[in-house]
Amino acid sequence: MKVLVIGGGAREHALCRSLSLDSDVSALYCAPGNAGIAEVAELRPVDALDGGAVAALATELQAELVVVGPEAPLVAGVADAVRAAGIPVFGPSAEAAQLEGSKAFAKDVMAAAGVPTARSYVCTTPEEVDEALDAFGAPYVVKDDGLAAGKGVVVTEDLAAARAHALGCDRVVIEEYLDGPEVSLFAITDGVTVVPLQPAQDFKRALDGDEGPNTGGMGAYSPLPWADPKLVDEVMELVLQPTVDELRRRGTPFSGLLYAGLAITSRGTRVIEFNARFGDPETQVVLARLRTPLAGVLLGAAKGTLDAVPPLVWREDAAVTVVIASHNYPETPRTGDPIEGLAEVAAEDGPDAYVLHAGTRHEGDAVVSAGGRVLSVTATGSDLAQAREKAYKAVARIRLDGSQHRTDIAAKAAEGR
Ligand code: AMP
Ligand code: GLY
Repeated sequence: MKVLVIGGGAREHALCRSLSLDSDVSALYCAPGNAGIAEVAELRPVDALDGGAVAALATELQAELVVVGPEAPLVAGVADAVRAAGIPVFGPSAEAAQLEGSKAFAKDVMAAAGVPTARSYVCTTPEEVDEALDAFGAPYVVKDDGLAAGKGVVVTEDLAAARAHALGCDRVVIEEYLDGPEVSLFAITDGVTVVPLQPAQDFKRALDGDEGPNTGGMGAYSPLPWADPKLVDEVMELVLQPTVDELRRRGTPFSGLLYAGLAITSRGTRVIEFNARFGDPETQVVLARLRTPLAGVLLGAAKGTLDAVPPLVWREDAAVTVVIASHNYPETPRTGDPIEGLAEVAAEDGPDAYVLHAGTRHEGDAVVSAGGRVLSVTATGSDLAQAREKAYKAVARIRLDGSQHRTDIAAKAAEGR
C-alpha cells in the first residue's frame, strides 16, 4: 500500500514511524514533513491547507491511503478534496471536523447526544460574558469558539483576565470549571464502528508541577495505572459511540480519529473537548504501545470497513514521551538553533528510546530547530519508571541552546500517586 501522510510534527513522525514498520506499506510519503520524518518517508513539499494541491499530489503518487495529521487542513476541507479525487483518506470532512473547529458546535452535538460535559454558555456580547462569568464564578474557564492552536483557552481565578480574554474573541464559550485529572482517549472510527485506543495523559503546562502557561503539550505517558480499568468501556458507551452516532444522524458522519479530552471529576467523567485528529504528544506514546500494524486499521476507517478489522493488540510495555521545546516557548519561540546529540541517542539508546521530530529542518548537514516544540523523546519500558528513565537518559544527550523540557513527566504515576 502506498501511503501519504499530511503534516510535519512529532505526531506525523510517530505515524510515519509506525507506518514504516508495517510490512503492508510499500511506499511512504510525507508532506511537508520535517528533518526526522525524512529518515522514514520521502518528503514532498505541499501547502497542507490546499485541498486541491494535496489531492493532486496524492493522485501523482498513486497513494492508496492519505492520512491527514493536523486539524487546520481538516477544518479547511483537505480530506473532502482527497475523497472527491477517489482516494481513501483517514480524516473527517470539514463539516465533521467542526467538532474541533467550533467549541459551540461540539457543545451542541454533546447536548443532542447526551454526552456529559461542563455546563456552558455561548456568548457574543459583553453583557452575556459578564452574566456567564458571574453565573459560574471562579475559577473561570473561557474558550475562544474557533481554532486557536491550543491558545484559545484561559483558565484563571482572575475575573479581569477572564473578561479580557472573552472580549478579545468574536464568539466565546464560558463554562463550568471541571476538577480532577485529565485523560486523553482516542478512537478510530469509520462513522459507524468505533475502536478505542489506549488512554494517555498529556502535560499541558509549560513548567514542572503544572505551573506556567498552557502549551500544545510538554509530554505524555500511557498506560494510566491509576485509572479505573472500566474507563475505556465507560467512555465508549457514554461519549464516543453516542457522538459518532449523532454526527451520522445529522448527515455529517465522522470518520478518522475522534479525540476525547476528559476530566475525571468527583461527579463522574466529563468531556473537556473533542479534537478531530490524533493528539500531540499523546500519539507518540499510544502508537509506541500498539502492536497491530497501523495501515490496515487506518484504511479500514477510511473505507468504512472498520468492522472487519481484527481487535487491536497492545504491548504490555509502558511508554513516556518528553517534549524538548525551544527557548521562549510558548510565547515567541526562537528558531534556527543547531540540535546535537541525535546520533548518540540512535547509537546508544535504540530501539527502546528514540527521537521524534516536531519543529526541525535541515540546514546543510545540520539539523536546526524550526518551531516551538522541537523534539519529542519517546521511550518504552516494562513499567512507567523504566520508560521514564530511558526517556530522560536520551533527553540528556540532546543539546539545543536555550531549550526547555519538563523533568516531571509521568513522575507521579510512576510512583503510584
Ligand atoms: P481545551 O483546548 O478545551 O482542551 O482546553 C485546554 C486546557 O484547559 C485543558 O486541557 C484543561 O487543562 C483546561 N480546561 C479546559 N476546559 C476546562 C474546564 N471546563 N475546567 C477545567 N479546566 C479546563
Ligand atoms: N495534546 C493536546 C492536543 O493534541 O490537542
